[in-house]
Order: sequence, then C-alpha cells, then structure tokens
Amino acid sequence: MRVFVTGVGGYIGGAVAVRLLQEGHTVVGLTRDGAKVGALARLGIQPVVGTLDDADVLTVQARGADAVVNAADSDHLRAVRTLVAALAGSGKPLIHTSGSSIVGVGTDGEVSSAIFHEDVLDSDSGWEPEHPIRKARVAIDRLVLAAAEQGVRTAVLCHSLIYGPAQGLPGESVLIAALVRQARAAGVVRQVGGGGNIWSNVHLGDVAELYLLALEKSSPGTFYFVESGEESIGAMAAAIARCLGLPGPVPWHPDADADAADSVWDPQFAMHALGSNSRVRGSRARDLLGWRPRHHSIIDWLSSTSFGETVER
Ligand SMILES: NC(=O)c1ccc[n+]([C@@H]2O[C@H](COP(=O)([O-])OP(=O)(O)OC[C@H]3O[C@@H](n4cnc5c(N)ncnc54)[C@H](OP(=O)(O)O)[C@@H]3O)[C@@H](O)[C@H]2O)c1
Repeated sequence: MRVFVTGVGGYIGGAVAVRLLQEGHTVVGLTRDGAKVGALARLGIQPVVGTLDDADVLTVQARGADAVVNAADSDHLRAVRTLVAALAGSGKPLIHTSGSSIVGVGTDGEVSSAIFHEDVLDSDSGWEPEHPIRKARVAIDRLVLAAAEQGVRTAVLCHSLIYGPAQGLPGESVLIAALVRQARAAGVVRQVGGGGNIWSNVHLGDVAELYLLALEKSSPGTFYFVESGEESIGAMAAAIARCLGLPGPVPWHPDADADAADSVWDPQFAMHALGSNSRVRGSRARDLLGWRPRHHSIIDWLSSTSFGETVER
C-alpha cells in the first residue's frame, strides 16, 4: 500500500511511517523542512516538501496514495477539508490524529473524577464541547467522522498522553518534554499545584501499531480513544526527578509563579495541559480492531529513560 503521511518528520507521524515501512508499505511523507529530506529518505520515506496549507500538494499526494494518515496537526481545519475533498468517493482510508485534551478538565493540579468514553462526540451533554479551548478541535474531529458520508473511510485516533522513544527523526512527546525542560531550567522538578491531576496515556509503539490496524480494517466514521493506562502528573514528575537526580517535584502555580526567571511554561499551557486531567477509556480499538497494547506503565518507561538531548525542542 502507498500511504501519504503528514507530519512524517514529527513524533507520531515518524513512528507511523517507520512501522508502515517495516510492514513493506510505501510511505510518502509531507515535511515543511527541506533540511529533513535527506534524513527522511535514509529512513526509507519518500519526502515531499510542503505545508498543510498547500492544497494542491495535499490533493495530488492524497489522490496518488491508497491511504492517508494526517499526523501533522490535530487543529488544522483547512488541511482536513482538503484531504476529505481529495478522497471523496474513493473509499480510501483517512486516519486523522486528534488528542484527548478535547475532554480536558482544568483543576490546577487536583484530581478530577470525570472519565470520558468514546460516545462523547455523539452528544453535547455531560461535557463542554463548545469551550473555546477545545471547540475547534472537536469540530475537526466531527468533520472527519462525517466525511464517511462522502465515501471516505475515515477514523479519528484521539490519543491520550503519548510516551516512549521517537521512532523516526528525533522528537519527544509534548507534556514530558515540558516537564523535563522546566526541570533543567530550574534545577528542580515542578508540577502544577499538588500534581494529583491524571492523564490517560499510551506508548508510541502501541500507537503506531494502531494506525496499521485502522488503515487495514477500521469501519468508516469511527472515533477511538487511544489509551492503555493512566497516571498522575505528580507521579510522572517524581519519576523524572529520580531519573535526572534533581529535587522535587515541588508545586508551581500558573498565577503566582509565571514570572519566575527560570519558568519556561506558558501559563495557559500549564493550566490547560500540565495542570489538567484528561481521563479517557477506549474499547473500540481492542474490540473492533484487535489492538493489544504491549506497554502499560509510563512510570516504568520514565524510570528507565535517560532523557537525552532529543527531549529538548
Ligand atoms: N504527542 C502526543 O502526546 C499527542 C497526543 C495527542 C495529540 N497530539 C497531537 O498530534 C499532532 C502531532 O503530534 P506530534 O507529537 O507528532 O507533534 P510533532 O512532533 O510536533 O510533529 C508534527 C510534525 O508535523 C509537521 N507539521 C506541523 N505543522 C505543519 C504544517 N503546517 N504543515 C506541514 N507540516 C507540519 C512538523 O514537521 P516538519 O517540521 O517536518 O514540517 C512537525 O514535526 C499535534 O497536533 C499534537 O497536538 C499529540
């Protein structure tokens, strides 16, 4: 199969591309960065230089492929519209990458009991899909799912916090990198508030496996939460402290500590990501696609990683 992958130079797209290549598929990958072309080609990927705004590039590549994986940006509406239009009536798979911050609950580091299931997008009750922080991403996810009616075999993989080593070019997951970056800048590991807030999570290797399964056999218009465990940010921060040999974790408060000289967290990011909960449960990947995640502990991984320079970006 010839698969067009956006975000092939990134953390998720890179892992998906490498896994597809291992299975003997051909991968054509979009990158904005001409300097990555050589490294991508050495991985076996056929690079195409362009951006998600280049409608002609996306259209030609999507039409020339047997399937499309959109892993560059969960929030790029124009790209999704272009890809759907290019594939309309083809019956080809379009696997879109989303993230479980769509059901985030900001609590400044306190645990929330709210747990969300895969029917969440079917209704507007019981959560706040219109909240400004998530409205645009929710609308894109719904648009992708609705494109099944236009003859595209769409799926939305809505990932929780992804962890694990990069599989393609160097890269790292956003939340872990932010915790490590702050720790290095401050000489102490920090967490938002008490750090009791919880994120579901999943290993990058298991994520890549799921794209393969979804490309192969997902039914049109299916939404998946992708998770295989959950953990508090405080426990993650403690594991990072042990690994880096730094003190902490100590509380950090977006309002009071944002101006600290060693602070590298944007207060909005701290509040809505590091200080929030995103607790999801997904059964469809297991029940419908036979997905069997092999990794179940982000703490085990954090405890065994050296946090090389690739964690910085
Ligand atoms: N990592 C997670 O835990 C996680 C979980 C859930 C959802 N997500 C979402 O999934 C998406 C991908 O995440 P990621 O962790 O793989 O991010 P990433 O490592 O930053 O990779 C995304 C790649 O997409 C490419 N890209 C970005 N904007 C582009 C544009 N306008 N046109 C063309 N290419 C563009 C960039 O590669 P080039 O520089 O080569 O162009 C970038 O390296 C993000 O929207 C993220 O919010 C991530």
